[in-house]
Amino acid sequence: MPELVLGPLLRYAGATEATVWVETDGSCEVEVLGCTSSTFRVGEHHYAIVHVTGLDEICEYEVRLDGEKVWPEAGSPFPPGVIRPLKNGETLKLVFGSCRISAPHEPPYILAHDEDERGLGVDALYATAMELRDMPSEDLPHALVLLGDQIYAHKPPFDTLQFLNERRNTADPPGEAVADFEEYARIYRDAWSDGTRWSYHRDLGNTRLLMIDSRGGRVLDEGHRSMVDAEEWAWISDKATGDFDHLLFGTSLPLLLGPAMHHLQTWDERLCSGAWGERAARWAEGFRRSQDLDRWASFHDSFAAMVGLIQEIASGERGDSPSTISILSGDVHHGYLAKATLENDAKSRLHQLVCSPLRNALPNKKSYLQGHAWAKPAIHATRLLARLSGVTREPLAWRLTHEATFFDNQVATLELEGRSATVTFEKASLDASKEPTLERLYGCRLA
Ligand SMILES: [Fe+2]
Repeated sequence: MPELVLGPLLRYAGATEATVWVETDGSCEVEVLGCTSSTFRVGEHHYAIVHVTGLDEICEYEVRLDGEKVWPEAGSPFPPGVIRPLKNGETLKLVFGSCRISAPHEPPYILAHDEDERGLGVDALYATAMELRDMPSEDLPHALVLLGDQIYAHKPPFDTLQFLNERRNTADPPGEAVADFEEYARIYRDAWSDGTRWSYHRDLGNTRLLMIDSRGGRVLDEGHRSMVDAEEWAWISDKATGDFDHLLFGTSLPLLLGPAMHHLQTWDERLCSGAWGERAARWAEGFRRSQDLDRWASFHDSFAAMVGLIQEIASGERGDSPSTISILSGDVHHGYLAKATLENDAKSRLHQLVCSPLRNALPNKKSYLQGHAWAKPAIHATRLLARLSGVTREPLAWRLTHEATFFDNQVATLELEGRSATVTFEKASLDASKEPTLERLYGCRLA
């Protein structure tokens, strides 16, 4: 009898339809709410995406493989899974975050990094799950958007390491980093039991979520560097056109970094391309690699194109201006909300929302750099360097809406109702009975 290996994962729920993904241990028919799909095979793995149609109300669902019920699991402490179609005019509630190392939810792993070197802190995603467990179905978020680093291929969890060691000699390259499809399939399974490149869009009521693959689609030829290739960019600008109440861009790498970090990366890219000669170029390339300077600022043509696109949207050239344009990001292992001001007559409010990590620890060296990225002296100095190397003035300015960036394990929630929008950041901690919980860090009305 076929069994579930991973899932079910509710990938999407619209007004009347949803898709549910599973991995099974053999080929079979997968059934959810009377809709079926056959599995397909990749290597030795079997997957199915069931397209569920005809939804109109919140409903519980089961998963059947060749007619046998496999989900919910017998004796599970969790309530049954539900699919919640988004009703017209309903407040859209979207939870987002990034960067998570999977490890048991117990000491030493729940300790802070400075208490134990294995410590990752309390997992904000796990704490979220614990809070949602007791929530009425109609209060549940409509979507969870994971913006990046759901796994770390160069730093696999313990179970995956054991699998790698049984499979090959990890003393030889590529060592303990996962290397092929089998190993990627395994690391996802290990990280999500308890890469392909895609940009995609989802319409949630009158809100469009446009996910940009800022990892796998890059063009890295010096002189023609870009975050995505021309074809993908054409697709992105096309999908950013229309009449929306809110437009959300999802990009793992933030578009708007701390300004000093932004200028530093634009300067380094100019040096790498030879603006200050060969020796400077070699130094800049070393600096780029050692500091992972790979954000939008380091692909300045793509940054400028993205800002240009946003300007067109905000000024109504691509349909009615949305009330808000929000860039949702993760990756940088700290969180913040920045408000941006465009130079032309923008009618939309533009924000950069960064929520990271769900569970990880930032090495001290980087937190020092990040901590100064919003400080005036550092901004002035790095902007001057960028200008001297030939970087043109940016057509927008941005600043934090709060005092300092957040370094806790965290999760954020965006609530969109009509033309108004609110964001809340929460950190994971332990309550008095040592159970994981969420504590409010900061909230702000965007429009
Ligand atoms: Fe990360």
